[in-house]
Amino acid sequence: MARIKTIGILTSGGDAPGMNACIRAVTRTAIFNGMKVYGIYRGYEGLIKGEVEELTTESVSNTIQRGGTILRTARCKAFLTPEGRQEGYETLKRFGIDALIVVGGNGSLHGAQEFAAEHDIPIIGLPGTIDNDLYGTDFTIGYDTALNTIVECVDKIRDTATSHERIFFIEVMGRDAGFLAQNSAIASGAEAAIIPEDQTDVDQLAQFISHGIRKSKSSSIVLVSEARKNGVGGAMYYADRVRNEYPQYDVRVTILGHLQRGGRPSAFDRILASRMGYASIEALMEGQRNIMIGVSNDEIVYVPISRAVKKDKPIDKELISVLTVLST
Ligand code: F6P
Repeated sequence: MARIKTIGILTSGGDAPGMNACIRAVTRTAIFNGMKVYGIYRGYEGLIKGEVEELTTESVSNTIQRGGTILRTARCKAFLTPEGRQEGYETLKRFGIDALIVVGGNGSLHGAQEFAAEHDIPIIGLPGTIDNDLYGTDFTIGYDTALNTIVECVDKIRDTATSHERIFFIEVMGRDAGFLAQNSAIASGAEAAIIPEDQTDVDQLAQFISHGIRKSKSSSIVLVSEARKNGVGGAMYYADRVRNEYPQYDVRVTILGHLQRGGRPSAFDRILASRMGYASIEALMEGQRNIMIGVSNDEIVYVPISRAVKKDKPIDKELISVLTVLST
């Protein structure tokens, strides 16, 4: 096995707080071990276009506390094609990059998997997404910060909801996953969460109305995952239904949107990103390839990228019971 001398790192898909801490950890660990590091800008788009610059220990100074990603990010359609991926490979060859670190969510690691299947390049994935939806890791980088941001917002909404005795439907991100909605509901003392993992024949709204609204409660807050299926889902959908079916209630909607993705990473995310970034270089030096670094029971684990992206990460059903019981 040839020794890896030069690595490339990119961030891809939706940005997540802690990505900079991750870039910093990868860069410094690689340099510490005698490697050269190239930053690839704008994710796979920059890989295709050759937007590459060397990273030094100094170029990642003063970044651990910053949200977003200093490497920028993008969602790249061209990389979905074999031709686009071939161009990306040409860039790696041109810069002498012999291993690639990809920080991103499900779509980005899916791209990494396809790339690795077509080209002989070791890839290590790092789970960077606020959605927490990658299989094989207890946490993804950015999830904790986003969760805390949501809870801070919900606490504020609670003040006005109580003053006006209103029902609020608050929509949060998570694409197809309910981790943000479920856990922010528990942490903010919300009355209910509507999440895709709990889609059964039972109407979640009717359930909430019968269990969640008590006369003694002066306000009700429902965290709603943004996930929609056949036009069903999202805060607007449920608010409209309440307005039509239960006109006695005063209903409002807040869609938190992209503010959930910004802000200074929490200490938890900084530490997670630092540990994972460090582990990615250790893994390369051990000869690992095409794995995602995860954390399980507070220990670093290696998960085949194919498994991380394919399997649906289940939500602990007990979390649903916790919220149901504590909100009664
Ligand atoms: O995957 C991260 C995420 O923030 C999802 O929660 C959300 O559905 C999506 O990205 C939004 O993407 P964009 O920033 O492209 O609108």
